[in-house]
Amino acid sequence: MKLFDVYPLYDVTPVSAKGAVLTDINGTEYLDLYGGHAVISIGHSHPHYTQSIKDQLDKIAFYSNAVQNPIQTAYAQKLGTLSGCEDYQLFLCNSGAEANENALKMASFITGKSKVVAFKNSFHGRTSAAVAVTDNPSIQAPINKGHEVIFIALNDEEALKEALSGGDVCAVIIESIQGVGGLDQPTTPFFKTIEALCQEYQVMLIADEVQSGFGRTGLFFGFQQHGVQPDLIPMAKGMGNGFPIGGVLIHTKYKGIHGQLGTTFGGNHLGCRAALAVLEVIEEENLINHAKEMHEYVKVQMASLPAEIILKGRGLMLGLAFPFEIAALRKELLYTHHIFTGAAKDKKVLRILPALNITKAQIAQFFTALKKVLDKPENQSYFK
Ligand SMILES: Cc1ncc(COP(=O)(O)O)c(C=O)c1O
Repeated sequence: MKLFDVYPLYDVTPVSAKGAVLTDINGTEYLDLYGGHAVISIGHSHPHYTQSIKDQLDKIAFYSNAVQNPIQTAYAQKLGTLSGCEDYQLFLCNSGAEANENALKMASFITGKSKVVAFKNSFHGRTSAAVAVTDNPSIQAPINKGHEVIFIALNDEEALKEALSGGDVCAVIIESIQGVGGLDQPTTPFFKTIEALCQEYQVMLIADEVQSGFGRTGLFFGFQQHGVQPDLIPMAKGMGNGFPIGGVLIHTKYKGIHGQLGTTFGGNHLGCRAALAVLEVIEEENLINHAKEMHEYVKVQMASLPAEIILKGRGLMLGLAFPFEIAALRKELLYTHHIFTGAAKDKKVLRILPALNITKAQIAQFFTALKKVLDKPENQSYFK
């Protein structure tokens, strides 16, 4: 049997990984500044993480959500404390799309409405409601197109007011920093306007923290920059550091109804132990603060690049916007300098999403390599 061919693949075969370094089948080391789509939060193969998973495997890996699971409750407790989101309840699932699907579903259950406001260049996943609120028609099949969605530009208050004033919207879903789209951000006044209008029109504010959560932006959740309180907070990626786990935080204003949401695998013992280990490492190693400090170091390094290259994002959720499309540059970084980076919908943005415990030396290694690529004659014409 062959694999279903939906992924363009790099010619690299990683066989082991440690921290921010991948080693391939030939023993070549790669600096991982992308974490496999922003998933690696505490670094590959962190010893506390791997030991916790191994120990849990020897006890019990899975049972369904029909029994008491103390690891789930311990996880919820720790997540509440570390994130500052004590006023929320936790529903566990397996991925970012599933987290958004459940959040949208809750918004519709709570309000009894079905229309959603989403933003241009958004990405929320590939399940039916999640892909319908994703601004990319090429990944929406006809079966996904029955949803009523209004896409408006980030920070367009007038369009937002107009969209909500009809009273038929169940949710506004927003990324606190757009990941796949290219690192654009809503302003604080805009986020506050969304919150106020959502309250006025009984609309659920969904802050999609699937990519920006778990310390990546230098805060536990990216929306915390803006002093708002979303109704629903979907999360995944860095939550499991590679173990497939996701979740939705649901404000305590809303009560659970038995049977309304559910999943077979979500919240299993092994996943919860992996996610708990991630929180323990984030706390123990003060990684959120480290992400902030590394952002400052990135800014220092940026000063030595041509002024036409703009730094976007916060913490270690970064984009470098170039005056040219970056596909060739990325290839060169990978195949010549052995550095993994990411692309965005905006073809001029290079995405940098390293493990939160990346070192200054590793960041410097990236900038040295980048300068070598930029110094090549074919790239000089873009700069003054
Ligand atoms: C903001 C955001 N939401 C949702 C998703 C979907 O997550 P998953 O691929 O785990 O379904 C992604 C994935 O990139 C994302 O960036």
